[in-house]
Amino acid sequence: MRIDVERRRPVTEVVRVDPAMPSQTDIARAADCLRRGGLVAFPTETVYGLGVHAMDPAAVRRLFDAKGRPANDPLIVHVSSFAQVAPLVAELPHDAERLASRFWPGALTLILRRAPSVPHAVTASLETVAVRVPAHPVAHALLLAASVPIAAPSANLFSRPSPTLAAHVLDDLDGRIDMILDGGPTSVGVESTVLDVTVDPPVVLRPGAISIEMLRTVVPAAEFAAGFTPASDHEAMSSPGLLSKHYAPRAPLTIYQGASVAVGLALRKAAISAAARGQRVGVLVSTEDAGLLSDLDIVGGPPVVLGTLASEDNAEATAARLYATLRELDAARVDVILARDIVNAHGLWRAVRDRLHRAAARIVVVGTETA
Ligand code: TXA
Ligand code: MG
Repeated sequence: MRIDVERRRPVTEVVRVDPAMPSQTDIARAADCLRRGGLVAFPTETVYGLGVHAMDPAAVRRLFDAKGRPANDPLIVHVSSFAQVAPLVAELPHDAERLASRFWPGALTLILRRAPSVPHAVTASLETVAVRVPAHPVAHALLLAASVPIAAPSANLFSRPSPTLAAHVLDDLDGRIDMILDGGPTSVGVESTVLDVTVDPPVVLRPGAISIEMLRTVVPAAEFAAGFTPASDHEAMSSPGLLSKHYAPRAPLTIYQGASVAVGLALRKAAISAAARGQRVGVLVSTEDAGLLSDLDIVGGPPVVLGTLASEDNAEATAARLYATLRELDAARVDVILARDIVNAHGLWRAVRDRLHRAAARIVVVGTETA
């Protein structure tokens, strides 16, 4: 890593690349850095990843350090094509092959039995390994040029929202990593679907853009892992302790669940009373909800900051904006964030709801009597 002599600290180099057709010179430099054990952030179609040579255990340990990530959380190994998976795994079930030919390159990670050559540092000593072939042209070019498997978690500090812009990576990891390939905003905005195909039936460990409905067209028996999101739309997670807090903004996020009109009123009321207590309030809203709160002007109190996602019937745009909006509210220095729950559990909404819940500090169930 280069050192800024005047400021006496390591410098993270940011290299702008054309997301559709990155310069081969820049890609070659980044690939070289990776092959020598460096840490390089790069865009994938889901979120920015922080890449490291997957077969270099010392480099992998530096990556865990840079992110502040606990060593017991395994990494996804990225490869350029399905053919590159074979050396990493002990067996390739037929389902894995069929899923790969349908969804790769793309936002699907498969859990497979690991080959002995995959370092324990990557798999957190599990007997399985996570693999993915990303679709983003920059990720693909980097994998081809490096010609080694690249282990890459999301390029955020541990427990912060995943980065969907190079600026987010820089905010979290400036001076802690060697290079960032800036290919603009990522398109999907939430991390890949993680599907464990070592078990029968296959189990979704993390929902993503490849929805369970899509997976079931190939593996009809695919199921969600028990208990990682509420079983039904209105079932409350009564204990905040049960929430695995993750992907979280700095300000505590409260989600309001219940009938639509009642939740709208509760959000308004909560925003007004928090502001009256002198708190800076951020509200995560759809474009439809923005009108409900835009007239809020608390006399003598701090302004209510709206973090606008997208239309409430546009899952793709909402997913693409979610993490950036949480980071924007943090940057606006809000003390608390309020949000309406996402009720839709189909397709990509499932993933958006999962991430919103993981970001939450608290879930409030609003009484239906005022609806
Ligand atoms: O979209 C993505 O998947 C992004 C981009 C960069 O590819 N990567 C990403 O990595 O989200 P990360 O490390 O933030 O999340 C990886 C997830 C974690 O929840 C981890 O526990 C799980 O995959 N995982 C990795 N290896 C596993 C294994 N062997 N068994 C079960 N879960 C595993
Ligand atoms: Mg992550």
